[in-house]
Amino acid sequence: MKAVVSQSLNERDKQVIWHPFTQHGIETDFLPVKSAKGAWLTLEDDTKILDAISSWWVNLHGHAHPEIAKAIFDQADTLEHTMFAGFTHEPGVKLAETLVQAAQIKGAPLTRCFYTDNGSTAVEAAMKMSYQYHKVCGRQDRKRFLALSNAYHGDTIGCMSVSARGSYHRFFADLLVEVDFVDSPQTLKAMLEAHPDQYAAFIIEPMVQGAGGMLMHSAEFLAEIGELCKKAGVLLIADEIFTGFYRTGKLFAFEHANIQPDMLCLSKGLTGGALPLSVTLTSHEIFEAYCSEDVGKAFLHGHSFTANPIGCAAALASWRILHRPETQANIQRIAEQTKQWLARLSEHPKAENARTLGTIGAIDIKGYPSYFSAMSYKIRSFALQNNVLIRPLGSVLYAVPPYCATAEEIDKIYATIALILDNAEN
Ligand SMILES: Cc1ncc(COP(=O)(O)O)c(C=O)c1O
Repeated sequence: MKAVVSQSLNERDKQVIWHPFTQHGIETDFLPVKSAKGAWLTLEDDTKILDAISSWWVNLHGHAHPEIAKAIFDQADTLEHTMFAGFTHEPGVKLAETLVQAAQIKGAPLTRCFYTDNGSTAVEAAMKMSYQYHKVCGRQDRKRFLALSNAYHGDTIGCMSVSARGSYHRFFADLLVEVDFVDSPQTLKAMLEAHPDQYAAFIIEPMVQGAGGMLMHSAEFLAEIGELCKKAGVLLIADEIFTGFYRTGKLFAFEHANIQPDMLCLSKGLTGGALPLSVTLTSHEIFEAYCSEDVGKAFLHGHSFTANPIGCAAALASWRILHRPETQANIQRIAEQTKQWLARLSEHPKAENARTLGTIGAIDIKGYPSYFSAMSYKIRSFALQNNVLIRPLGSVLYAVPPYCATAEEIDKIYATIALILDNAEN
């Protein structure tokens, strides 16, 4: 009888999987992850990889956190899911109460929580909600959106529209909605003067534009944008899908500028990175504008897994962990260590634009091409040979570690970035 030779995970993957953001013509092997604990991923052959980017910025407290795992198990054993139109449940209400109250304490007058299930759907809901808001208020001309140059807000059609129109989205140009991009409060002012009463909302990643290359702006810049939008009656949507939950050192990045967004989108770290879930928080004024006897005026939008109870339970567990003194101390320690490392790396002859805010650290490799360069693959594999997961954004090397990372683990991450710079070919 012929022996059955079992295929490796990679061989099976090659036959059936289409990976995200992947050119399969170049990238043909994928790392088989067997398990993960704390800041480390364990591969099939027991190799350990330090997750310096929190698995696409989602993980807050380390992988397979026992408290989040237990919350997930307990909730799955009690109520795993129910539709959310016509029904409600304790974890959904409790999480909404928690987030709304936190937003208010931080200065944003947000009173309602609309659930979605990933970052893009949270942004898409915010865009539709702000657009329809003006319509139900009788302001028919407020149809256009404003966004910041180099923005990234997700991959659905609406999200692509408010994201930088670079090579990523070049095939979809004809499908996108009308958006004006600004790069400063001055250009925003000019735009608002040129098109008064035409904008529905301005969407912004406050303080740090993540996928655009960890680009940072000042609190003054953000405050001016907030002020201009308020004066012009343009709703301000804070997309904190990346920056929320203390990534920038504060619970929400909008706090740095004391602005009051009309909407707040959260996802990624919301569940501690364990499950897909997102919210769009909104003001009383916006919610009230939709309330009427007319069903057709309602926000007729939702998803099958809206407010999934297991996701909400994971988020509540993550929230508890996030606010413990030891987590807060870790966040401060990582921020301090990151600052020291970036100061050191800024002296490196092959580096420029060292920058940091909270637990985010980034630096550019001098003279390297931006996106769509094979260099990115080389850097990734070099980092992996050093057992660190680093995924450059074009020429930008960065780290966004989980808050459980020890001082030694943070040192290992930045020492690897230093090694990448030492070996940069220029
Ligand atoms: C600021 C921001 N908004 C939206 C998104 C889209 O989130 P998702 O990938 O969950 O759709 C991302 C993802 O990286 C993001 O960084």
